[in-house]
Amino acid sequence: MSKEIIKIFDTTLRDGEQSPGASMNTEEKIQIAIQLEKLGVDIIEAGFAAASPGDFDAISKIAQRIENSTVCSLARAIDSDIKAAGESITKANMRRIHTFIATSSIHMEHKLKMTPDEVIKRAVRAVTYAREFVADVEFSCEDAGRSDIGFLKEISDAVIEAGAETINLPDTVGFRLPNEIGEMVRIMSEYTKGRATISVHNHNDLGLGVANSLEAIINGARQVECTVNGLGERAGNAALEEIVMALKVRADKFSNFDTNINTKEIYPASRLISDITGIEPQPNKAIVGKNAFAHESGIHQDGMLKNRETYEIITPESIGLVKDDTLVLGKHSGRAAFKDKLAKLGFTLEDEALNKSFERFKILADKKKDIYDDDLRALVTNEMTKATQVYELISLQLMDFTNGVPSSVVKIKKDNQEIVEAGIGEGTIDSIFKTIERISGIESHLLDYKVKSVSQGKDALASVTVKISFNSGEPAIIGHGLHIDTMLASARAYIGALNSYLSMVGMLKKRHCDSAKTV
Ligand code: KIV
Ligand code: ZN
Repeated sequence: MSKEIIKIFDTTLRDGEQSPGASMNTEEKIQIAIQLEKLGVDIIEAGFAAASPGDFDAISKIAQRIENSTVCSLARAIDSDIKAAGESITKANMRRIHTFIATSSIHMEHKLKMTPDEVIKRAVRAVTYAREFVADVEFSCEDAGRSDIGFLKEISDAVIEAGAETINLPDTVGFRLPNEIGEMVRIMSEYTKGRATISVHNHNDLGLGVANSLEAIINGARQVECTVNGLGERAGNAALEEIVMALKVRADKFSNFDTNINTKEIYPASRLISDITGIEPQPNKAIVGKNAFAHESGIHQDGMLKNRETYEIITPESIGLVKDDTLVLGKHSGRAAFKDKLAKLGFTLEDEALNKSFERFKILADKKKDIYDDDLRALVTNEMTKATQVYELISLQLMDFTNGVPSSVVKIKKDNQEIVEAGIGEGTIDSIFKTIERISGIESHLLDYKVKSVSQGKDALASVTVKISFNSGEPAIIGHGLHIDTMLASARAYIGALNSYLSMVGMLKKRHCDSAKTV
C-alpha cells in the first residue's frame, strides 16, 4: 500500500525569525532556504512580504533560487499585504500565499474589533484576491485552538468556496492538549474531506507542540507547520526534526505515512540555523541538542558497547551527524581536498565563495591545531552570509591596562581606502565598538552581546553575536563574527552588523526611488 505523504511546511524563516534575537539578513535567509530545499521540505514560508522591504527582498530572492519546494509568503487578510505577498513570489517555480485572520472570540472582539460576519467577509475577500496572484492559497484561522468549532466550519466553507486549498488550524498560544487538538482536527478533516487539506501549526508554550502535531496527523492533518530547532515566537513552534524523526522511528504507529524529508540533512540544517541566528538548541534538546547522542553513565556506555540498540533509538548518522569529525585536512591541504570536505558537509560553493572560504581556512589552520566539522561549518556559513562589505576590518591593536583606560586602534578599509582610528572605552569591547562607531560616523547602541565557542580546546573558535540598533533605528540588526581571538571576533561581529545595516538602508533607498519612478 502506498503511504500518504505528510507535507512539511517549514516556517523557520517567518515564525522562526519572530524568535527574539533571530532576525537574519537576506544572504543568511537565502542560505537557509537552500538548505531547507535540500532537506526536502514541501513548502518554505520565506517571510512576511509586507513586513518590511528587507522581507520582501529576501522572499523575492529566495523565490528565484528555489526550484523544488513551494515558496510561500504570509499576508494578513488585507489587500496591500496580499499584493506584496503575490509580487514577492512571482519568480517562484511553485508559489503559495498564506493569508490569515483571527477566529477566536477573544481575538475578534478585543484585537480585531470585528463581528464574526465581518471576519468571514474579510477572509473571503483575502482569499479571492490572493487567487488573482496564485492558484495555491492557504488560509489560517489564527487562534483556532481557542475558536468555536461551529465558526471554524462556517469560515472554512466560505474560504474553500473562494478558492483556498489548505485550511490551517494554528494553536497560536500553545494552549491545547493533544487529545483536544486531535478532536478539533478529526472534526475539521471529516467536515472538509475532499475539499481542502487540513494543516496544523502548534506553538510550544506548554511544551506540547510536537505531541499536538503528531496527534493531529493521527486525526487527519496532512500538513504540519514547524521550524528547525523549534525556533519561533515565545516558546517556539513544533520542531521539524522531532516530528519527522518521531514519524520515522515510530513507523510501527505511523505505517501509513511518510514525509519527503531527507533526514540526513537535519543536523546540517540545525547547525546552519544556529550558526546564523546565534541561538544554540538547549544541550538536552531532542534530536539536535549537543547531548542527544552522548552516553554519560557507565551502565549506558557498557550497554552501548554490547549492542547500540540497548540505549539508542536513533543513530546519529540518520540525521547526518558524523561523530568522528576531526578534520583530516591541515594547513598543507590543498583546495581540492578542502572542496571535497565541504561537499561532504553539504556545501556547494561558487568559485569566489570557495576561494574566500579557503583563504580563511588556511589562516585558521595556521593558528588552530584541530579543525572540526563544526568549525568548518561555522566558517563557511559566516563567509557565505556576509552582507556586501562596505567596511572591512584590517587590523586591531589593543591596550588594556589593569589600572588604566582600555583603548584600541582599529584599521578598517572602505572604498579601497584604509582608515585608522584610536579610541577608549569602559571595557575592551566597548573601546573597539566606540572606535568603529567613530570611523563610520553612524551612532550605535549595543543591545545584546553573546559569545560561544564553536568546537573544543583552548584554541576553539569564538563565535560572537551582537545585536545593535543604528541611528536609533528599528529594527535592531544582528551581526556575527568568528575568530580564535574573541576580541577580533567581536570587532568582526560589529562590522557585520554595520554592513547589514548599510545594505538595508541601501535597499530602502532603492525601493523609495523605484516607487517614485512608477508614480
Ligand atoms: O501562530 C499563528 O497563529 C501564526 C499564524 C500567522 C499562522 O503564526
Ligand atoms: Zn505561529
